[in-house]
Formats: sequence, structure tokens, C-alpha cells
Amino acid sequence: VAPSPAAAARRGCPIDHAALSAHKAPTGCPVSHRAADFDPFSDGYQQNPPDYVRWSREQEPVFYSPQLGYWVVTRFDDIKAIFRDNISFSPSIALEKITPTGPEANAVLAQYGFALNRTLVNEDEPAHMPRRRALMDPFTPEHLAHHEPLVRRLAREYVDRFIDDGRADLVDQMLWEVPLTVALHFLGVPEEDMDKLREYSIAHTVNTWGRPKPEEQVAVAHAVGNFWQLAGKVLEKMRQNPEADGWMQYGIRKQKEMPEVVTDSYLHSMMMAGIVAAHETTANATANAVKLLLQHPHVWREICEDPSLIPNAVEECLRHNGSVAAWRRLATVDCEVGGVPILAGSKLLIVTSSANHDEGHFADADLLDIRRDNASDHLTFGYGSHQCMGKNLARMEMQVFLEEFTRRLPHMKLAPQSFSYVPNTSFRGPEHLWVEWDPAQNPERRDAAVREGERSPVRIGEPSGHAISRPVRVEAATPAADGVLHLRLVAPDGTSLPRWAPGSHIDVECGDSGLSRQYSLCGDPADARAFEIAVLDDPDSRGGSAWVHANVKPGDRLRIRGPRNHFRLDEGAQRLVFVAGGIGITPVMAMARRAREMGTPYELHYCGRKREGMAFIDALQALHGEHLKLHVSEEGSRLDLQTLLATPQEGTQVYACGPLRMLQALEAACVHWPEDTLRVEHFESTLGTLDPSKEQAFEVELKDSGLTLPVRADQTLLAALRAANIDVQSDCEEGLCGSCEVRVLQGPVDHRDMVLTRSEREAGQRMMSCCSRACGGQKLVLAL
Ligand code: FES
Repeated sequence: VAPSPAAAARRGCPIDHAALSAHKAPTGCPVSHRAADFDPFSDGYQQNPPDYVRWSREQEPVFYSPQLGYWVVTRFDDIKAIFRDNISFSPSIALEKITPTGPEANAVLAQYGFALNRTLVNEDEPAHMPRRRALMDPFTPEHLAHHEPLVRRLAREYVDRFIDDGRADLVDQMLWEVPLTVALHFLGVPEEDMDKLREYSIAHTVNTWGRPKPEEQVAVAHAVGNFWQLAGKVLEKMRQNPEADGWMQYGIRKQKEMPEVVTDSYLHSMMMAGIVAAHETTANATANAVKLLLQHPHVWREICEDPSLIPNAVEECLRHNGSVAAWRRLATVDCEVGGVPILAGSKLLIVTSSANHDEGHFADADLLDIRRDNASDHLTFGYGSHQCMGKNLARMEMQVFLEEFTRRLPHMKLAPQSFSYVPNTSFRGPEHLWVEWDPAQNPERRDAAVREGERSPVRIGEPSGHAISRPVRVEAATPAADGVLHLRLVAPDGTSLPRWAPGSHIDVECGDSGLSRQYSLCGDPADARAFEIAVLDDPDSRGGSAWVHANVKPGDRLRIRGPRNHFRLDEGAQRLVFVAGGIGITPVMAMARRAREMGTPYELHYCGRKREGMAFIDALQALHGEHLKLHVSEEGSRLDLQTLLATPQEGTQVYACGPLRMLQALEAACVHWPEDTLRVEHFESTLGTLDPSKEQAFEVELKDSGLTLPVRADQTLLAALRAANIDVQSDCEEGLCGSCEVRVLQGPVDHRDMVLTRSEREAGQRMMSCCSRACGGQKLVLAL
């Protein structure tokens, strides 16, 4: 792309072209014509920021915008790296006015004594972390749970006000006011002055992130000045009653303990910033989410029918269309972002909404997929030491709002309208959201329990993988051997199911028994219509398999989760050896099919006690011919592992699934083979429950978040991280699945999972936070 000399000439190109050419930058000058045209106040950006910068994400992920005077960064990895390093990339400009105001507006602000200080959002180290640590307790899930009844009551009352009207602007009639009341309640502010605060907080957004016209600037400055003064007055009122509940009162009490950390001007600034942060972002995020869900009616229907999908739907909405489109950072040293040299003093606009659509991190990123298993990786809340402290309050509110809407107004639709946004670079949500419905169809007119019924508390924090299930219909249930039931599961509406690769499993929920069990997919991945599993009626079953055998018949509906894959086939292997024992044939048969398709040399050893109990023998023989070796002990044929694995061979991988004894024997037989030759699938954990009398407490330092946490003897690392609002995904929570993995920077790990291989354990760079701990109570340092 040709440089844009015109743009460069307008402002003087700030680029060190010599350094750039040394780094082989793609365009010579990063100010391409598209970069020169970039305008975050234009309708294109306002309507859909990630789409507006798609070209950048795909071709010029770091570019200089002469109109804005900022470097713009649009890819996930670059933005996460910037968040991770808050020393080289200072947040100090996060609240700076993006469009400098004129002298008249500045004089107005001065007249109100406006002196907004640094807050948690824009403060550098070393001041930031001590303050953050001092003020974070009220944000822990445990404390936030106390606010849920208020959120529910408000949501219910506001819906009451318009439910019989058949039409509402959700923004004006609910979504602005409820999060504001919750924010005020959380802060400990009396509820009076709500209208004024609302008006002022909008002005504050325009003042900071927007481009008010010169004639608007003075009016905005008056509103911001009034906001500042009102915040000060309310704070004084709170000082009269410092024992009251509320984050500000907590801050006032902390001020007594550490006056040099929690200062007067800090509290005043936090009061104002806190109202904006807790209120506006949540209101916008909910409006964006409802709009997005109603624009996808089949998804809306799904969450109406199955509210357990709401927590992950919230994350996916925050990813797909969150309320924070971009943040700002200031480079404090000469550095590189995505291979582009950036000089100290450069300003950066990091477009988090674009990162959330980065195909390199989120597969099929433009698709709204409420079952996406990494949805909560989004950067809408930021990451690292400056990530949003109130994220779990926002998540809780959004879940409650969606629960109320889907339950009481499942027939709600978007009214025809065009959407407008307050023009600014960062905070984003429609100014109005008109929805309509037929009040005669309100479910509560037929059944009062729809309004009155009990609601279970929402899960506060990142959603669990366990929450994401989908319905399937049992198309066929046929015996595959003695005691083995072969199930073919299809989507109820006959549509395609998610793609999967050999080694994947699904979790089947066993009706209302509360049990769920993992079963490997054993069919053909090319068959997008169905998942196939085989279930052994095991006398030692913990209940799941017995339930399937006793209850499941063709035509039934089941709920499943997944597929997930923790047993991936290395398609680059030169030779593959598969070993299956009994029902362990299921993942292995999908792998062997793949080896055959790829033309990789392979052998499949299938062991069992008696032929009648071994599933799929005929089909396997037909497909694999002499690659298949059957070892039936009743017939006197046993697999001799020592002979099979006598001579190590470079490039060979051994994949095995079966009883624990067989897997242990394989491990022993493979010790003289290259590291990681053997890959095994475990379905049962050997972990017992945590015994606090035998465990040691330890400390964990979180490098990216700037925190050090104690992990008690009666607590897992995962639980300690969650309690401190650190998001870590999890699924099985028994060391089997690998989803709770964290990166270890330092410290000896006592690995207790079934996921990592021997050499991965020895390398000590990864650990499963649901079960593994520090050795001997020593300290661990994690990249979190
Ligand atoms: Fe599955 Fe930790 S959550 S290994």
C-alpha cells in the first residue's frame, strides 16, 4: 500500500522510517491511505468498530492515525502484550480528553474546581497497585453476592412498569437507571440526585472520549464541573457515616489505616470515576447484548428455552459486541508492537473490540456462538493489573437482566429502528433500544409463577464450562457388544452439529440425576449430522453408564456439552500405534480412521477379555484389515507390550485408552522411548478430595496482575484465583481436561493432573490449577 504523503505532510510523519525499514515493515511508511482515513468518530466505527478496522486486523495490525495522532493496534496478541506490560505502556492517558477542549471550556471546568486525579484506571506504578490492593475486597464474588437481591428486585420492578405496554425503549426505561442505582448502592451513595448524576455521567463520557463541537464544549464542561462538585458533596455526606455499607465507605475506612495510599483527592476522583465505570459500561453492555441476541432470533430462543446458557451468552456478547471498544496507552520507552517500532512518548489506541474478533484467537470470530468455549478470553474487561475491578458486578447484572427478559418477555422482538451512539472512541452502546411484543402473550398472564417464582442465585465470575450444554435427540440406540450401547445423537432440528476431531469427547447429562459422564466420539468426523458414542454398562460405574443403559431409547432428548478435545492426534507423526482396552476403543477407533485417511503407517491393537464384549469388531475389521490386531484373552491371545515396544523408533506416537492397569503397563513399557511418545486418555481421576490436614498452604505471585495471593491448605489454586477475581477457565475440576491450565514462571510444582506428559511436568512451565499445587509450600510465580 502506498504511503500517504499527504497525511504525513499534514501533521509531519512521526515515524522513524530508518528504524522501520530495518524491521522490514510491510508498507514502508505505516501511514497507508486506509490509516490516513481512519476516523473513530465516524459512523462506521460507531456502528461496528471491529468491522471498521477489519482491514487493519488482516493487513496492518499496527498503524499510525494522523487524524487522531495515535498509533492504532488491532490484534489480540499485540493488545494482550500491551496490557501485560503496564510499565512500557502506561495507562496514564486512559482518561485524557481525546479531543482537547478550548480555553473557554477549560475556564468553566476550573471555575468548578475540577481536579480529577489519577484513578485506578489511569494510574501508574508504584502508586496503582497498593491502592488497588487496598480497595479490591468489596469486588470479590463473596461480597458481590450481597448485591444480587437488589439487582433482581430492581430488574423485576422495572419490567413491571412496561410489561403491559407492548413496547419499550429498554435503554431509557430500564438499562440506564438500574445499573446506575446498583452502582450508587455499591458505592454507598444515597439514591437521591439520580437524574442529575445520569446527565452528568453522560457529559463526562463526551468530555473524555468524545469530540464535542466547540459550541457544545462549554455546556459539557458545566455538566462535568457539576458532576465533580456533586461527587464531592456526596462524599462529604458519606464521611458522616463511615461504617455504612458501600465501597466509598470502605475506602474512607481504609483511608484511616493508610492515609498516604488512600488520599482525599483519590477518593473524590474514584467517586466520580466509579459512577461512570460501574454504571455506564454495564448499561451499554446490556443494551448491546440484548440488541445482538434479538438480532439472532434462534439464539434468543435457545436462551429463553434454556437459561443455563445465559452466563456464557453474556461472555459471548461481551466478546462480540462489548461496551468498551478501545483503551489508550502511552509508550514510555522505545519499543515494538507487532514488529513495528514505536517511539517513547507515542500514544496508542488499542482497539479491544477488534482483538475480540481476531480470527487468530477466536475461530469463526464474527459468528455469535453462545457455546464458544473461549468466549471469556475477550479483552472487554482489559487484562492484567488494570483489568476492570467491577467485571463480576457487571456479569452478575447482565445475567440477572437476561434471566428476567427471557423469562418474562421471551416473545420480545427488536422494533424497526436505526441505532445511534454517543460519538466517542471507547464506550459504546445504542442510545435507544426499542423492543416490542404482544402483551396478550405475556407468559405471566397465564402463569403468575413466571413473575413470582424463585430464581436461583447466579454464578458470580467467569462462567464454568459446565454451564454450556446443547440438546440432542437420540436417533438410534443399538447394542454394539454385550453390555455396550451404541448411541447416535443428532440435533433436534436436524441441523449440523459442531465439527470435531478424533480424540474428542462429549459430556452427557444423565437426566435430572445431577450426574454427567464423558464419552469419546467414535463415529466419523466427516458426518456433520451426528455424534456417535458407545456406553459400557459397567458394574463399577459411578451411576452414569447405568443411567444411560436403563433410560435412553431412540427419540429421547439428551443434553450434552462439548465436544472438547484433550487427546489430540499428532497428524505429523510418521507412524502411529494405537492401543485400546475394552471400551477404550472409542477414541482410538476415530484416530485409526484418521490415520488410514492420511495414509500414515499405523497399527491398531484392540484388547478384550472375550470377543462378545468387544464393540465394533466387524466394522473395524472391514475398515482396517490387517492393520487391526485383536488380543482376546479368553482365546489365549494377549498383547505383549514388551515385545511391541521393544525398540524405540523416532517419529512414532503411541495413543492408548483403556483400563488404568493397561495404561500403567504401557507407561512402564515406554520409559526407554523418546519423551512424549505415549499419549493416553484418562476418564477417571485418581485425585482424592483435598485433605487439608495433609496439604500445605503456599503463596502464588501473579506477575501480570501485580498480586500475591495465599492459597490455603483447604483450598485449590483455582479457588484462590477465583476468589481474587482472576479469570481462569475450568471444566472437569479433577485434573482430567486441561482447561484450567496456567503458565508457571517460577517455583516447583507438585503436578497431580492426568493431562501433562512427563516431559511437560519436568519442564515446569504449565500446571493445572484445579488440582496441582506448589511443592512443599514454596512460592509459585504465574503468568496471570
Ligand atoms: Fe479440568 Fe482442571 S479443570 S484439569
